[in-house]
Amino acid sequence: MADKKAILTVDGIKESLELPVYEGTLGPDVVDVRSLTGKGLFTYDPGFVSTAATESKITYIDGDAGVLLHRGYPIEQLAEKSDYLETCYLLLHGELPSPAEKETFVSTIKNHTMVHEQLSHFFNGFRRDAHPMAIMCGVVSALSAFYHDSLDIHDDKHRVISAHRLIAKMPTLAAMVYKYSIGQPFMYPRNDLSYSENFLHMMFNTPCEDREISPILAKAMDRIFLLHADHEQNASTSTVRLAGSTGANPFACIAAGIAALWGPAHGGANEAVLHMLAEIGDESNIDKFIARAKDKEDPFRLMGFGHRVYKNFDPRAKVMKQTCDEVLAELGMEDDPMLKIAMKLEKIATEDEYFIKRGLYPNVDFYSGIILKAIGIPTELFTVIFATGRTPGWIAHWNEMISSDYRIGRPRQLYTGHQRRDYPA
Ligand code: SDX
Repeated sequence: MADKKAILTVDGIKESLELPVYEGTLGPDVVDVRSLTGKGLFTYDPGFVSTAATESKITYIDGDAGVLLHRGYPIEQLAEKSDYLETCYLLLHGELPSPAEKETFVSTIKNHTMVHEQLSHFFNGFRRDAHPMAIMCGVVSALSAFYHDSLDIHDDKHRVISAHRLIAKMPTLAAMVYKYSIGQPFMYPRNDLSYSENFLHMMFNTPCEDREISPILAKAMDRIFLLHADHEQNASTSTVRLAGSTGANPFACIAAGIAALWGPAHGGANEAVLHMLAEIGDESNIDKFIARAKDKEDPFRLMGFGHRVYKNFDPRAKVMKQTCDEVLAELGMEDDPMLKIAMKLEKIATEDEYFIKRGLYPNVDFYSGIILKAIGIPTELFTVIFATGRTPGWIAHWNEMISSDYRIGRPRQLYTGHQRRDYPA
């Protein structure tokens, strides 16, 4: 497989080391450093800035060109021409479904949206004001207690049914988390509705009133799920892969991914953006917050800005902004004060040398919160929405690893602690 090589010379090692270099379909070549342990050497890359932890065929990102491909299809085209469940199928199976395959997949997902009735009792152990992500970590992990029939990770039929169950049940659980927080009864899913209509139905309808779901809001919800579906080896996906490499069941692995996503530097940023915009409060305060974001002594960062990979623009942010305009226009909220602050903040920041020099531009989280708020979803639930959207990506990566010749993930370290010393006599 290696058609190139790298030569490494190391002080103290007589002969130079020849390392294979592999070319991908797209993106940077990789240097295979696995032989270094045999020479008593490790690589050192905190935060994995320059490390390819795996080979994958699912998603490709070019951070400089602002490119995001799912199985080769650009995110802009999928957002415009596809829908969330079709994109789920694409991520899982590698190809777009035929009309018949899509119909079967959609029907299968619909018929797995209910959760075991016992699961609803788990919620009663939580305070009503528990953070929704705390509940999601618990109830998604608890799914493994209900599906003993599909936990053999080396049985591809078990892997497929687990994938279907997770994609189908995440919106149901997300809506249950919301209903629990406001003291309303859980709403059962409806099989006559589309995936995103069904989510909004379970979120906002009650047993007393079954209101029509706005097709514009359902389309916006579907677009938000689609834009979050996968993103290569990000922190939460890498967490799912690492948990999966131990042989843990898929429900536990996805729960680990949800926990990793919760952080404000990752999926928690959409919630943090709304809190930041509320704290800014008025356009006249923007300069003060920009100054804080640039101040090394101040831990404040501009939420929704910057990305480990995108150093020009996040293509998802562009589509999200367009969706934001559509939804706010549909709802007659073009003058939403949060949107005005966000747009002014984006303009000032993207013209500021500090942000330009560091490649800090709006990311997927910058506008998504404004749309979710306009749809009526509470800020604390934003990262739960992100987790719901990201589930097919997590599952596709987990499945790709389990179906390959994988090993348990076990990074090493640069040890700088004490030399051996004896316990005092
Ligand atoms: C997601 O990986 C993925 O793909 C993630 C994601 C996905 O779909 O899975 O895309 C989803 O997590 C998007 C990112 C959401 N997070 C935020 O919006 C939080 C704010 N952003 C930052 O925390 C930060 O930009 C990160 C975490 C996103 C990226 O951090 P890096 O790559 O480790 O960059 P860094 O912290 O080394 O910053 C480089 C420089 C530093 O300044 P210098 O030391 O070079 O002077 O840029 C500065 C940082 O201080 N910087 C910021 C900033 N982000 C980076 N300064 C102000 N505001 C910011 N938001």
